[in-house]
Amino acid sequence: MITEEVLKDIFKPNNLKWRTAITKVEPNRLLTRGHLQEDLIGNTSFAEMIYLLINGEEPSKNESKMLEAILVSFCDHGVTPPSTQSARLMASAGSPMHACLAGALLAFGENHAGAIEKSMQVLQEGINKTRSDMDIDSMAEIMFDYFMKREEKIPGFGHRYHDEDPRAPRLMELAQEYECLGRHSELALALENLLFESKGIRMNIDGANAGILSDLGFDWRLGSGMFMIGRLPGIMAHVHEEVTRESPFRKVFEMDEIYYDGKE
Ligand SMILES: CC(C)(COP(=O)(O)OP(=O)(O)OC[C@H]1O[C@@H](n2cnc3c(N)ncnc32)[C@H](O)[C@@H]1OP(=O)(O)O)[C@@H](O)C(=O)NCCC(=O)NCCS
Repeated sequence: MITEEVLKDIFKPNNLKWRTAITKVEPNRLLTRGHLQEDLIGNTSFAEMIYLLINGEEPSKNESKMLEAILVSFCDHGVTPPSTQSARLMASAGSPMHACLAGALLAFGENHAGAIEKSMQVLQEGINKTRSDMDIDSMAEIMFDYFMKREEKIPGFGHRYHDEDPRAPRLMELAQEYECLGRHSELALALENLLFESKGIRMNIDGANAGILSDLGFDWRLGSGMFMIGRLPGIMAHVHEEVTRESPFRKVFEMDEIYYDGKE
């Protein structure tokens, strides 16, 4: 017989299959990270809500302004990124909005949007694995040599189109102003100095945001997700523009631009 004792035993926290510290759902009551959702609505910005959900606590006013700026910086890079092109082509083919957005997110890969997570990992491992008394410049030199010896590019630096990505220095300037510039960003800046001296390469948006997000306490495995949150509104704007301004079934190439070099 299922007695009250048996039920209590079944529903002991350790016996439950799912556990979460994010939101407690009860009839007529939603408690997220210790805050009633009706109190959060109207009092909490979207950036603050993201910070609360992910880090489990409310950000300071400065941290909140910094995260807001980071999300804005991710918003759009025109028609050029593969994710935006994928979404616009899908829209042109008649796919619904949710499919176009999913298509854009699935187009993110190692070579597009992959650098933020890699950059965060490099900076976080650099800071975590080296002696805490080691100065940032020495740490940057060791890391720089490591990458150069392997002839590998350091994620978060260089850009196919911009010599100086205008978003990176602005983000660093704000990190300074909001007192959010910590050891990870200092390491990114020290790496930038070495790359600029040797190759004329500067920090890009991913390097800047990787440093600052790491200083704000975000784990490197969250990097791509943070990028997606920021970029999704831009992709949605592109999908809507494609649907409302362009003819369906967009022609990407003229037939005479396609060269067949297979078997005849
Ligand atoms: C974005 C990227 C692909 C552009 O590459 P690119 O077009 O070859 O860049 P450039 O032609 O300006 O490179 C010039 C030189 O700098 C080097 N270089 C470029 N980015 C570098 C980096 N991040 N680390 C080390 N060296 C780099 C190139 O290897 C090249 O060296 P060489 O002249 O000795 O051969 C490249 O910078 C890169 O892979 N960066 C890291 C990944 C990244 O952050 N991506 C996000 C971009 S928003």
